Amino acid sequence: ALKHSYITKARKHNLRSYGYVQPQASYKVAILGAAGGIGQPLALLIKMSPLVSELNLYDIANVKGVAADLSHCNTPSKVSEFTGTSELADSLKGVNVVVIPAGVPRKPGMTRDDLFNINANIVKTLVEAVADNCPDAFIHIISNPVNSTVPIAAEVLKQKGVYDPKKLFGVTTLDVVRANTFVAQMKNLKLIDVDVPVVGGHAGITILPLLTKTKPSVTFTDEEVQELTVRIQNAGTEVVEAKAGAGSATLSMAYAAARFVESSLRALDGDSDVYECCYVQSDLNDLPFFASRVKLGKNGVEALISSDLQGLTEYEQKALEALKPELKASIEKGLSFLQKQP
Ligand code: NAD
Ligand code: LMR
Repeated sequence: ALKHSYITKARKHNLRSYGYVQPQASYKVAILGAAGGIGQPLALLIKMSPLVSELNLYDIANVKGVAADLSHCNTPSKVSEFTGTSELADSLKGVNVVVIPAGVPRKPGMTRDDLFNINANIVKTLVEAVADNCPDAFIHIISNPVNSTVPIAAEVLKQKGVYDPKKLFGVTTLDVVRANTFVAQMKNLKLIDVDVPVVGGHAGITILPLLTKTKPSVTFTDEEVQELTVRIQNAGTEVVEAKAGAGSATLSMAYAAARFVESSLRALDGDSDVYECCYVQSDLNDLPFFASRVKLGKNGVEALISSDLQGLTEYEQKALEALKPELKASIEKGLSFLQKQP
């Protein structure tokens, strides 16, 4: 059985890291898009990690103030700021984990795919720099549409001759965080205990929570499964509409991204019990990229966990088949993006 290691261990880490002055490890993390809605709270959460010795903040503008502000926190890591393309390469030197939340967010009425034209180019440029400056780093892609930006990143890395599929991740942790929260609320469970695997991709019906695989074991009526699935799939839109034009999820996303960074750092640090759902190159089915639970290790993805996909209910199986054409099209759109460049 998989243990809910992150939940307990990371909570201990977080508690310890308030006011903690001695680093426990010395990893270097870079955030590209660090002055943005996600970037700022994410930088704060990573600044609290005892596993981080250096935190590099890169953006095209406004990052100086963010770095000056954050650098006054008496936690171990040294904060450095990098502004504009001329400083991008330096922000990546020696970095172990690169997190990319750069790009435009949705407004009401938009799909994530509507962001493709702008964000595809941003991700391409940033991943080219990652390939040139820290090709061994774990790369966490947050910029939407994740279903396409991860395949774009893979193609860029291939073109540069440095693609390691074990180290390229689409961040889908927010889907798990939401699923855990909504299930705990509906079933009156202790939040810390709840763990719902979410597979597929990160947009609309491609987000597939496997509610029957929830730990601890819970039973749901068909109506509850339908209600929860739709809420988890539309949770991003719920936030976009509530923010009414001011952007999409930033705080819950920063929380989720910080969890994924912390898990990656624990894996790099030799913890052999780290599991997260994320969107990676996959051979679990006929889609070349697919989000599933993975075991993380020092070299990135150590194993794709296939057991969650066995013994699916009829509802889950149908939902899985239904998401495949959309996810396949988004992957192909990402993979063919570079070929269309002048
Ligand atoms: P934001 O507009 O608040 O911040 C984006 C930041 O990116 C800005 O500071 C901007 O200056 C910067 N940026 C733009 N172009 C850049 C470039 N070429 N290099 C470096 N930085 C650049 O947006 P946000 O709310 O932080 O969202 C960022 C992205 O994250 C969006 O695409 C959004 O859809 C996505 N997102 C993904 C998830 C997920 O679950 N994966 C969740 C929420 C948001
Ligand atoms: C989310 O799930 O909150 C993000 O992908 C942002 C969005 O556009 O919904």
